[in-house]
Amino acid sequence: MRVLILAAALGLTACVPFGPKEANTTPAMDFADYCAGCHGAGGKGDGPAASGLAKKPADLTRLAARNHGAFPTTRVMAQIWGYTGKKGDGVMPDFSPLMQGEMVPFDGGDGIETPTPIRLVALAQYLETIQRK
Ligand code: HEC
Repeated sequence: MRVLILAAALGLTACVPFGPKEANTTPAMDFADYCAGCHGAGGKGDGPAASGLAKKPADLTRLAARNHGAFPTTRVMAQIWGYTGKKGDGVMPDFSPLMQGEMVPFDGGDGIETPTPIRLVALAQYLETIQRK
């Protein structure tokens, strides 16, 4: 059931643009707007702002490969939302615009559903699609 709800929510984001409040963004657009500056347009950690950082932005296309082939959804959520507690040294900015709008029940892998902003869920799903070996 949980999977169905999530699938439905994600399916919705894939074919129906967000409501007027969210200005019709897609996960790919959110990535370009909020993440690509550091992580690069393709997510490889080579964005224009990367060289100015003390810490190298992660290669987001290798998250699954570095996690024995399984996409680390919970960790990704933790990073972009503080889902299970913020990690790292807080280099990444505040993504509060992504947290506005509809909330959907989301199970990050621990079996507990938490109301989660739909744009963050969609963004995590988008990252999963750019994984490479
Ligand atoms: C200001 C630069 C910057 C921006 C913008 C940024 N990141 Fe990051 N990100 C980093 C750096 C540097 C690291 C590695 C160090 C750390 O964890 O803080 C990182 C790490 C991560 C990780 C952890 C990877 C791992 O190995 O666990 C994820 C996931 C991530 N970023 C996703 C995103 C997403 C999604 C966005 C856009 C919503 C984003 N980042 C925007 C700089 C940035």
